Order: sequence, then C-alpha cells, then structure tokens
Amino acid sequence: MFSRLPKNLVQRVMGVTGKDGAHLPARLGPSNVHAGRMFAHQDSLARLPIPPLQQTLYKYLMAVKPIISPEDYEVTKKIVDDFGKPGGVGQDLQMGLINRAKKMENWLSDWWLKVAYLDYRSPVIVNVSPGVVFPELSEFKGREGQLKQAATLINSVMDFKYLIDTQSVPVDKMAGQPLCMDQYYKILASCRIPGPKRDEVKIFPPTLSNAPKHIIIAYNNQFYSVDVLRPDGKPYSLNDIYAQLKYIVMATPVPAVPVGILTTEHRNTWGKIYKKMKKDHVNKDSFEKIKRSLFLVALDQDERPGEDASDIVMRGRQSLYGGGSMISSGNRWFDKTIQFWVGTSGCMGLTYEHCTAEGPPIVAMADQSLSKMNNLVTDFGSDTSNPPKPERLDFNISPDIVEAIEEAKHSVDVAHTDLQVSLFQFKEFGKNFPKSQRLSPDSFIQNALQYTFFKLYGYSTATYESGSLRKYKFGRTDTIRSATIESDQFVRGMCDPTKTPSEKVMLLRNAIAAHKQYTNDVINGDGIDRHLLGLKLIAIENGANVPDIFMDTAFTSCTHFRLSTSQVPAKHDLTMLFGPVVPDGYGICYNPQEHHFNFSVTAYNTSPETDSDRFADVLQESLMEMCHILVTAPPAAKL
Ligand code: COA
Repeated sequence: MFSRLPKNLVQRVMGVTGKDGAHLPARLGPSNVHAGRMFAHQDSLARLPIPPLQQTLYKYLMAVKPIISPEDYEVTKKIVDDFGKPGGVGQDLQMGLINRAKKMENWLSDWWLKVAYLDYRSPVIVNVSPGVVFPELSEFKGREGQLKQAATLINSVMDFKYLIDTQSVPVDKMAGQPLCMDQYYKILASCRIPGPKRDEVKIFPPTLSNAPKHIIIAYNNQFYSVDVLRPDGKPYSLNDIYAQLKYIVMATPVPAVPVGILTTEHRNTWGKIYKKMKKDHVNKDSFEKIKRSLFLVALDQDERPGEDASDIVMRGRQSLYGGGSMISSGNRWFDKTIQFWVGTSGCMGLTYEHCTAEGPPIVAMADQSLSKMNNLVTDFGSDTSNPPKPERLDFNISPDIVEAIEEAKHSVDVAHTDLQVSLFQFKEFGKNFPKSQRLSPDSFIQNALQYTFFKLYGYSTATYESGSLRKYKFGRTDTIRSATIESDQFVRGMCDPTKTPSEKVMLLRNAIAAHKQYTNDVINGDGIDRHLLGLKLIAIENGANVPDIFMDTAFTSCTHFRLSTSQVPAKHDLTMLFGPVVPDGYGICYNPQEHHFNFSVTAYNTSPETDSDRFADVLQESLMEMCHILVTAPPAAKL
C-alpha cells in the first residue's frame, strides 16, 4: 500500500502545481548519524533508475490489453505511439526526468510523499492507514491483565527502539540483497500534521539533543504523556511503566470529550480546526507533546455486553479505525505514526500512519515485540523507582469544536457502517504447497485473486500489488500489475469446460511465471506506474498540458484498481487490513505462513457490486481448485 495507491491519485496528481510549500522530512541515515551495521550498506545502495521510455510504453500497452476492449486498445495504441515517437512529448518529458534524477538521491521519493500522502485530503482512516490485528495473548485478561500487557508491550517496543538507536536492526534483504533501512528511522517519534490544504510530516530522531523520551497513553479518550526513558536515557522498568498506567486508569474514571476523533476527519476540515485550536497555548502544548512522542498506546474498553471481544472482525475494525465512535475511535490520535491498542480481553493491534513507512518495518517491530512479550517474565512486583507522574494533556474546546467533534463522530460511524470487513485464516495449506510445486507463493496467491475476481465478475480488472523499491536508496514501492495477459488466459481457461486439467495447469504455471517476472521487473526498478507518474508530474511541474496518454480512458481504467492488494509477511500470526481504494473495489492483504494464509478482505457496503464475505468464500474455493489441478493433473503439463 502505497505502497497501495490511495484513492483518486490520478485526479490528485492533476492538481499538483509543483510549488513546494511542504515541509519534507530530513534525510536520515548515514549522512546524519554515526553509521552502524544497520546503515553500513546504505551509501552503496543504487539510485532508483528511470526505465527506458519505449520499454515502459510497451509494458503499459501490455498492461491495459487484458482490461480494455480491443477497440479501445487500438485508440490507446495510437495515443501511446504518438507520445513515444521521436520528437514526441514523451521524449522531452523523459529528458526532464533524467535531469531531475541527476540532481537527487531519489527522483521519486519527495514527489511520492506529497502526491500519495501529504496532498491526499480524504480521512487517513480506512483510506490510508492500515490496521494490524495481533494474535491473542491469552494470559492477559481483565483490567489488570490489560495494564500488564500494555506495560510489556511498551517495554518490548522500547527494546526495538534501542536497536534502531544503536543501528543494530538486522538489515532487511531481498533475494540476498540489502534493502534501504531509512524507514526504520522514521517510524518512532514521528507524526503527520494536518494543514488546511497540505499536511506535513515531522520526525524527531534520537540524534536530537532534546530527543523525545515520552510516549502517549490514551485511556477513556484522555491523553497522557508518560516518560519511558529516564533523564540519563535509560528505560524505565516494567514496574515503573505498569505503575504509571495504573495511575492513569485511576485518574480517569469517566470518558473525556473525544478530541482525538478529529484526527479521523477529512484532512482539510481537521487542518482548519487544528490551526484554530493551536492558537490556544494549552492546546498547542498538548499537540506538541503528542507530535513529539515516540508512539501511542491506547488502552481500549473492548469488552461490551453481548459481544465477543476476541471476534477477529471486531479486532480488525478496532485496529483500522478504532471500531466506531461508540467503541474506541475517540481513544486514538490517527496522525501518530505508530499507535497500538490493548484491550481488556487479551486482544491487541496497531494502526499506522503511512507517510513515513510501508508495512515491513512496522511488522518487523511488531514481530520483534511479540517475540519479546512471549518470553518476558511478567513478574510485576511493587518496587518502582518513582517515575514522574503521567502528565494529563488538556484541551480547551470552544462550542464550535464540540460541534466538530460531533460531526467527526458521525462521519466515523458512517465509515464504520459502510465498511465490510472479512478476516480469515485459510487452513488447507500455506506457502509450502506452492513452493513444493516450484511456484512462487506470492504469484500463486495473486493468481488466485485474479481467478476469484473473474469468477465473480466475468472479466479481469486492474490490480495493484505493492512491490518494494527498497533495493534503492530511499525507495518506497511501485505497482505489480497482477492482471496480465497470461493471468487473463489462465482465468478464462479455468472457466472453460473444454480445457483439460493439464492445459489448465500449463495456463496456471504460465500466469505465475508472468507474475513473477513482473515482480522481478518492479523490484529491479523496471515497473511502469512510478515512471508514468514521474512523466506526468514533470509535465505539470513545467507548466505543460497533461499529455493525452494520461487523459485517455484506458489510463483511467488501468488506474481504477478494483483489486488493491499487498503481501505483508510476518513471523507471527498477524493480519494487516486496509480499505479498498475505489468505491467498487476490494482491499486485500495476506500474510503467508508455512501451513496457512491469513487474509483480510474489505469492501464498501454502498457498492452493490462488492461483497467481501462472498469474495473471501470464492477465494478459498479458488485456492483449493488451483491446488487440486496441480496435484491431480497428469504431469505432461510443462512450460
Ligand atoms: N519455487 C520454490 N520456492 C519459491 C519459488 C519457486 N519457484 N519462488 C519463490 N519461492 C520461495 C522464496 O524463496 C521464498 O522463500 P522463504 O519462505 O524461504 O522466504 C518464498 O517462496 C516467498 O517468495 P514469493 O512468494 O515469491 O514472494 P517474495 O517473498 O519474493 O515477495 C513481494 C514478493 C512482491 C511481496 C516482495 O517482493 C515485495 O515487494 N514485498 C514488499 C511488499 C510491501 O512493501 N508491502 C507494503 C505493504 S504496506
């Protein structure tokens, strides 16, 4: 995810003026900090390349072919040929892009931050910020269990912070190659700040002389600043943190006005309110504390009469947007990059704001913290070192802000009602099965998604899968377009009763090979989506007309991603989820484990076209059918 492409990026890109009013995060890494193991390779990372123009145009035609009619394809081909011909607009734009790349460490990253995130004005909940559901830790139940669980979580995350600060996080690798670790430096002590027209992102790295030493605890909609590092920089003990949490619960018997729910609003709305509220110094100080905090932990009330708090869908909703105004949406600050929640039923999860990072660094932190929590001796004594009392963060709220809070509550509840969430574990097999067939598990799953969509709708649709660009310095993602000519042949073949099982297997293997090839192209900088975006943005920056290739209906069709998908693997049984990026689309995320897959599927109830439960059911059938033909078809089917 955006990694996943946010909604209406195409339209938003059209509105980019190229004038840079935004604060962009300081570049971190070896140039700013003492280079340790984690950054040892950073300076030798390659720069993100710009693919040859003709290559991108050819691939673009191949990408649109399976999703538009043959007649539309002929029109598009002519437009693309004109764009790319010698002396054509495309050549000039390509030169402009090459010149930009010469001057920058990464020609895309600053643009991407703006167009994909900071200029994006819809609410961050559901549309941008993913949720992550954690496995249940059964030993922690009830209020006391919740506080112990939260204390161990905080303690474990602080251990991960120590790894980041000492640059000891193991270097992520893909196919044996080291990846850019810059994102790890931006996930803690960072925050999105709303603006009336464009947001900002602020990062407070550990190298600052006044680097943050506190976290925020949200309880009963009230925020507290809690010191987790002593003045000498050493962490407070588990007991100290537990004592601070107990104090907060005792001090907050009734829910406060849910100021935090304003962070779920449309960004222009919240930006205007924020600006106004900030004029009051009490509010300003509270905003400042939240902004500078390392991360936030929300202590949720998740046990309600008549409801099963451990229900995975409910946990998914709680992770994604707090579950609604009557549940915990007001007990959140959605601008904060990392926000955990811990319930009273042994359940927990997190939400992350997407500006600074993709899922993998967040999941690495979650994995490491869960491993530590599982092994921690949770022997809470009564000894404390008398840590400072948690500081309550107050807000002065005028009647119009009270009204705005009521409106935000209403909007969250509309979003809640509109979003359909399906979370499930596919237990018949996991990634070991495709591997045993010498097939890429990711490509296998992506083709199962293609097959599912085709069975439901009878055609192939534009599909977005996040592909990592972290092989390159400051790289984020590009799009793996999983709907290919080969996947279209496969899904049609599967539904064709005249095809033999061996032919179907051949089509499946072809489709998987094509997806794997596309994936390899993307992670090696030969994707098409970011290149096309760059060509468009350079035209806009130069004040030129938006070229016809971007105004063509094929471009609209191929960026209307009815399937927005992402693999987010984890060591633990985590499940990430996010909303669809178009009104008639699906948001699909999966965590492949050896013997099972964790899936999330979301859709909008307002669309008569979509149904996440139905998609989930058919997806499980598709996976089974694909497995069945692979194990039962005669072995003649060879590529
Ligand atoms: N035969 C046997 N095994 C195979 C195989 C084959 N033909 N092809 C792949 N495998 C193995 C791999 O070696 C790997 O083994 P491991 O489990 O020991 O690690 C495993 O299968 C998984 O490989 P694959 O399914 O092909 O996926 P991948 O790990 O290469 O991931 C992407 C593919 C696209 C998900 C990854 O490249 C990527 O870009 N990830 C970033 C996603 C992201 O940023 N998301 C953002 C979310 S906000």
